[in-house]
Amino acid sequence: MEQEAYILGRGFSANARLNLQYFLWKDGGFSLHPSIPTDCDNLRVAEIGVGTGIWLVDLARHLPPSAQIDGFDVDLSQCPPKEWLPSNVSVHRVDCLALFPENLLEQYDIVHIQLFHLAVHNNDPVPIIRNLIKLLKPGGWISWGEMDYSSWKIMRTEDGRDVEDNLTPLLEIIGTLGGTRSNWTTDDWPIKLPKFFEEYGLTNVAKDNRPFPLDLLVFQLDTALMASEEVSYKALDPMRNGSGDTCRGVISKVFRDRQKLAYNVGRLTVIGQRPFQRKD
Ligand SMILES: C[S@@+](CC[C@H](N)C(=O)[O-])C[C@H]1O[C@@H](n2cnc3c(N)ncnc32)[C@H](O)[C@@H]1O
Repeated sequence: MEQEAYILGRGFSANARLNLQYFLWKDGGFSLHPSIPTDCDNLRVAEIGVGTGIWLVDLARHLPPSAQIDGFDVDLSQCPPKEWLPSNVSVHRVDCLALFPENLLEQYDIVHIQLFHLAVHNNDPVPIIRNLIKLLKPGGWISWGEMDYSSWKIMRTEDGRDVEDNLTPLLEIIGTLGGTRSNWTTDDWPIKLPKFFEEYGLTNVAKDNRPFPLDLLVFQLDTALMASEEVSYKALDPMRNGSGDTCRGVISKVFRDRQKLAYNVGRLTVIGQRPFQRKD
């Protein structure tokens, strides 16, 4: 399948931004949904779309050394060097939109995927869900985490009551890539993940959807502005129509009012289990 260009950065600020995003995401929550059992010997875990590999490294600290944790991504340049990863963690160049190699099929107790929105095309995660299910052993679990933009809302301090909202226009610029595509932030597939999981035969489907606490909102905003700036340089500037400059102008205005106006959004995790036996 043709690979769409990655619109976020892969440099050191982008790496630090992804890691910060990860810790803000799991703050007050979990790295792996607590309903997913991890107490079996020789547990095999896969993550799809590892970014910097921070989830793999963090999870390895919480699982027994007999667990084997494999990360797959189309680009491993943001990860630590392979020899500095924990000995039970490995990373591999694999495209999860293509068919997985035979040797990976039905091998995993847990398959995790998070912040993968930009690689989901046409508001349709089904091709990815079907592909991920193939990695699961009978009884294995999928866990999918995404920002729930359907719950996106502007948050104002008392002082920010009358401040101009530049965040909504910024979300529109980033979501539509400067007006060149339909707005991916209005795609509703993340909140439909439980339904998709059930349609494709997963059981014990559960979701956890938690907004950020107020005291983390500005940190979350900082990461969103960093990501927006990355998109402005990487995806908007090459269009040579001024949309990169426009975007950076709006980012400055949002930052100017950082202590008055921010946004909140749900941290959505959906899990489901492959049945031990197929229903015939
Ligand atoms: C926004 S990052 C999220 C990284 C990590 N999951 C996290 O939460 O920090 C998305 C990652 O998915 C990877 N990715 C995009 N398309 C992919 C594909 N078809 N197969 C595997 N990985 C892909 C990107 O290279 C990138 O590293």
